[in-house]
Amino acid sequence: MATEQPPDGRDEADLGAIAEKHGQKIPWVWDTKRPNRVGFFPRAGGAVTWITVPPSYISHTLNSYDDGGDIVVDYVEFPAPFSADQLSTSAPPALVRWTIDRARRRVRRTRLDDRPQEFPRVPDARVSRKHRYGYTAAAADFLKAYGHGSTPDSAFGNGLVKHDLATGRSQFHRFPKHASASEAVFVPRSGARAEDDGYVLSYVHNPDRNASDLVILAAQDFTGKPIAQIHLPSRIPLGLHGSWIAGT
Ligand SMILES: [Fe+2]
Repeated sequence: MATEQPPDGRDEADLGAIAEKHGQKIPWVWDTKRPNRVGFFPRAGGAVTWITVPPSYISHTLNSYDDGGDIVVDYVEFPAPFSADQLSTSAPPALVRWTIDRARRRVRRTRLDDRPQEFPRVPDARVSRKHRYGYTAAAADFLKAYGHGSTPDSAFGNGLVKHDLATGRSQFHRFPKHASASEAVFVPRSGARAEDDGYVLSYVHNPDRNASDLVILAAQDFTGKPIAQIHLPSRIPLGLHGSWIAGT
């Protein structure tokens, strides 16, 4: 998967001039004259196939996998145009699926969840394979940073979302006001057989301490009380990615 556009004769100086004109500090800018394209190529190597896709800005993908003749890509979409420098767009991000028909070179786009969320993550063992469950973070403060004020759904707020893509249902683990959650990392239980048999870890800002907690949820009891809430000595910046490395 690659979302870069193929060379089309315009050089970096052109893009730099456009960015400067818009008062942007970083050397790329949304050019509405050009379409979005996505390229895919065989895992074993080979030529890239480019197809035109609906205009949007993608910062993070949940996962992508082969499904017969299709390629499925689940990701968080910001509507176009998107100003990376000002972190602004016309609407909040949402969870979206592309189903790419390789033979016909067409994309079917499905909105999986309209609620604003980011930092999508599947269990590491499912990366590039078909997944049933995905986890995302919903943070009102994060949304404010993108210039959208409070969440459109007041019942959504700050929390983590567990998506069941097989049923289309989701569960929401709510955190207190201003307790913004970062990327959720799934850690399987030792000997787990089910895809969601394990734990979900996230750094969550604790406004009472002005520091972060490492919060551990049981993935199969997602809305229940956390298994553990470990007080860290300092604040982890909002929006941090996460990874889990098993100790020896
Ligand atoms: Fe990132």
